[in-house]
Amino acid sequence: MKKLSTNEIRRMWLDFFKAHDHYFLEPVSLVPVDDPSLLWINSGVATLKPYFDGRKNPPSPRLTNSQKSIRTNDIENVGVTARHQTMFEMLGNFSIGDYFKKEAIEMAWELLTDQKWFGIDRNLLYITVFEDDKDAYDIWTKEIGIAADHIFKGTRETNFWDVGQGPCGPNTEIFFDRGEKWDPQKIGPKLLKDDIENDRYIEIWNIVFSQFNNDGKNNYSELPRKNIDTGAGLERIASIFQDAPTNFETDLFFPTIKKTEELCQNKFKYSIENYSQPNAEQTKINTAFKVIADHVRAVTFAISDGVYPGNKDRGYIIRRLIRRSSVYGRKLDIQGAFLYKLVDAVIQAMSEFYPYIVDKANMVKEIIEIEENRFLKTLSKGYEHLENIISKEKKVTAKNALLLFESFGFPIELTSEIAFENNVKVDVDGFVKLLEETKELARSSRKDDKAWNKQSAILTKLQVPSEFVGYETEKCETKVNFMFIDDLEAKKVTNQVVFVTLAQTPFYAEKGGQAADTGVLIDSTGNHHPVIDVQQGPNKQHIHKVQVNGTLSCGDQVVAQIDEEKRYYTMKNHSGTHILQSGIREVLGESALQCGSFNNEDELRIDITFNRMPTHEEIHQIHDSVEKHIQQAIPREIIYCSLDEAINKHNALALFAEKYDAEVRVVKFGTYSCELCGGTHVANTKDIEDLLVTDVESKGSGIYRFHAVTSHKEVEAYLSTQFNKQHHEIKSIVEKYDSFKELKPNIVIADKISKIQNLPLTKDNLALIKVLVNELKNDFKLYQKEVDDQLIEQKIANFKTIKPVSFGDIQEIDLNTGELEMKEIKALIDFYQNQYDSLIVRIANPSAKLYAVGVSPNIAEQHKAIDIFKNTKEFSVKGGGNNTFAQGKIV
Ligand code: ALA
Repeated sequence: MKKLSTNEIRRMWLDFFKAHDHYFLEPVSLVPVDDPSLLWINSGVATLKPYFDGRKNPPSPRLTNSQKSIRTNDIENVGVTARHQTMFEMLGNFSIGDYFKKEAIEMAWELLTDQKWFGIDRNLLYITVFEDDKDAYDIWTKEIGIAADHIFKGTRETNFWDVGQGPCGPNTEIFFDRGEKWDPQKIGPKLLKDDIENDRYIEIWNIVFSQFNNDGKNNYSELPRKNIDTGAGLERIASIFQDAPTNFETDLFFPTIKKTEELCQNKFKYSIENYSQPNAEQTKINTAFKVIADHVRAVTFAISDGVYPGNKDRGYIIRRLIRRSSVYGRKLDIQGAFLYKLVDAVIQAMSEFYPYIVDKANMVKEIIEIEENRFLKTLSKGYEHLENIISKEKKVTAKNALLLFESFGFPIELTSEIAFENNVKVDVDGFVKLLEETKELARSSRKDDKAWNKQSAILTKLQVPSEFVGYETEKCETKVNFMFIDDLEAKKVTNQVVFVTLAQTPFYAEKGGQAADTGVLIDSTGNHHPVIDVQQGPNKQHIHKVQVNGTLSCGDQVVAQIDEEKRYYTMKNHSGTHILQSGIREVLGESALQCGSFNNEDELRIDITFNRMPTHEEIHQIHDSVEKHIQQAIPREIIYCSLDEAINKHNALALFAEKYDAEVRVVKFGTYSCELCGGTHVANTKDIEDLLVTDVESKGSGIYRFHAVTSHKEVEAYLSTQFNKQHHEIKSIVEKYDSFKELKPNIVIADKISKIQNLPLTKDNLALIKVLVNELKNDFKLYQKEVDDQLIEQKIANFKTIKPVSFGDIQEIDLNTGELEMKEIKALIDFYQNQYDSLIVRIANPSAKLYAVGVSPNIAEQHKAIDIFKNTKEFSVKGGGNNTFAQGKIV
């Protein structure tokens, strides 16, 4: 068996597939772009969805990659088992409508067994196929020559890849036999055949034959274009070539484990032998090392990709990983924050393939250190809380275990251990159940997880030419050259919605964050057919969604005309997006990564990942920078060049553009802004006219959304609406304050009102006015409450002197008055209840039809307020309450 480092394995995989005409796709961010159905990129194919479901055509029909991925459904198992990883790397090869089962299997076999490549002894490889997939079985047995005792048929459970709607199909899995050493009972291939959990046969490669479309309701049809999707776990293959009992003794994790030993001053050591000769104490120690090594790697990569610890979604997962590994650090007796000290070991192991993490090292360390220190403070509070629970309740309920887990980051093992030391029981089963329920909740809130689009046969095959002329013109004479409805070609359409392609089109299709153009097709009879949406097809044709008004036929000559005004304002907003993006980077630094943008004729939005909300001062600086560059009247340049030239010569930002085209389009505004972009832009920054950031909101998970408008017209319209709104809001406060101020003057409120009223209504003052109005609203709420209390006090003062009348052990107050409202009645009952024990108080206001009963707590069991209320003889009532208080209406 060869000995190969992880870097060598990865290189060999990619070289093999490059040698077999595959296009190498660089690994992409762990944060999915334009895919709200996924929290993380969770497999190699997750980055290729648009190619698989046919929305886009790939740069080549054969692709290969090695993609960092995160799966978090099983974090508790990481470190406990041999092969669970939070972040893992998936090696893959993909065919998009190119080769299928035969070549996929042949290539896999060549790479695995040929001495020139991995050179694994073929006798050590075992295969499973889907029981109904005769083709795959025959290819393996007849063409590759796999002996019958090395191939097993699996079920739909084990050998069918199906993620709900979208492409799916049977798979074949390849296993490596690590030998009898890992099968002490010498059960052999039966382990595989009967799908028994084991350490002997390790699955190293999953090849999915993507051949069916699932319509989302488990109806399956043959895919118009069949694909191959494969995934092989790099960490597992490394463990084989490095003869490591688990993934952790490989060159990927072992350096981090060694560094952790150093940090605990070698008080604890990781034991490789423990895997084959386990010892309970050492198993716990090994788990701690494994958890730390796994988590710190995932956290390093996630933070490098712009995810910051937080309370939701991705941010929460990063927070949990940091907390969990920090707790395990305590088990190894490490004092203080230490995880950041392991980042260099991760970078050392990973930077050959991910060179960019070197530059991120300092930022990553800083964020991890701050977060761990913050957690260590919580942890000591958690210990106190747990001690409290133990001493008071003498047990830890499932609910408390979950609270400790969620709020203080206590893993259940830690809670159990401390409870055990104190001779107290923990409801671990209940905890597991509750945890499952919360996970279920999280899962259902992301219902369309893994959702794919349905592959459209007509779109994937559409080859009709269609030229985009919308950079140069807003109107052109052209021809309808294809139409379809519901995946069926249409030759002639009457009063219906239809999808249309045109020989030339000025209509921009929605992409790169820019909204689609709308407009009309005007036929030779002068009929106007509105174009309501435009999307790009997989072969780049613009597909117009047209509401046919009368009749439209394929071959018709039409004038295609976009809504010019809409385009005009969209262009300003798109160029504004680029300029604002530069302003944000200039002020917040390059760690403010853009992770999404949108612009249409009304507004623009930019999402960035950042470790905190930008301050008012920073937003102000961003404004200043943007304004300066708009006023500098910088002309726009459009450059067509290679990707390499765009990035290295022009320093272009390559955010969402199609990066695989031989030629890319660069949109440049002097030295201030340069981005890969296919959008439509103004000719000069001065045409943006003006830009106003209208809001910055937190979207959770460390994502902040900037909203802005451009152009004098829109900025003015926005300002005047805002000022009107603020004016109305403070008008009602001012009126109320005027009526209360005699009774209760308040200097802070009076000052704020006059400050707001004296501020000139300008763009520069808008943010400040918003802040002041919000402050005023909050202050006024508190003030209003004080005034209300004071008014109530005034109203009830006279009634307070009334004394109860005694009836045996019970005292009673019966009050019938036309003066009091319910809030006053309540306050009065409160007063009496505080004043007297064993009291029943009844207050009625017949003119307002109000009635309430209060009972002192000491007699409330025997004389329930709600019963007294309901059983009153004087009037019939409707309402509710409890033992001490009940209220309602006289009916
Ligand atoms: N997409 C397949 C997997 O994740 C290859 O296993």
